[in-house]
Amino acid sequence: MDLQALQNECLNCRRCALCDTRTHVVFGQGVPTAEVMFVGEGPGASEDEQGQPFVGRSGQLLDHYLEAVDLSREKNVYIANIIKCRPPQNRDPLPEESAACMPWLRQQFQLIRPKIVVCLGRVAAQQMMDPAFSISRDHGRFYEKQGTLFMATYHPAALLRYPVNKPAVFGDFVSLREKITQVCEHTY
Ligand code: URA
Repeated sequence: MDLQALQNECLNCRRCALCDTRTHVVFGQGVPTAEVMFVGEGPGASEDEQGQPFVGRSGQLLDHYLEAVDLSREKNVYIANIIKCRPPQNRDPLPEESAACMPWLRQQFQLIRPKIVVCLGRVAAQQMMDPAFSISRDHGRFYEKQGTLFMATYHPAALLRYPVNKPAVFGDFVSLREKITQVCEHTY
């Protein structure tokens, strides 16, 4: 099974009720051999319309941060979400929706085998790292879990609401750049 085959399967997913309200499944986007993987929460309205992750306003902001440290979805990272279909009114995913969807992300992770995973926001950090994870307390720190490094930073949508955290996120991306130079082989 390669990533494209997994995506084809995922596009027909009916494992939870979000399949009835979605326009597109947002599987993920980027380089299948990326050493760095970003994980967001779930599609918003623009992503649901276009079928790609982080293409709305928060996606533009994410792309700026990526560019600042020589990363991009075209060149050297992969971007996915905890859930692949948009929850109505952009509410948080329900526990049963995350549970139904997580096997897709696990399979993406197993195929891509990233060295570093960056969680964007609380929902991704609590799902991927620790149910008690606090972004304001622990953003920018790297944690090793079974041979992979995990770090979380503020979600770009939260930055649009609270720009005061933008410098902290820039610092987290600078730390990420430094970590990449230490542990990655072909990202830069
Ligand atoms: N917010 C997310 O968490 N993911 C997206 O893909 C877009 C916005």
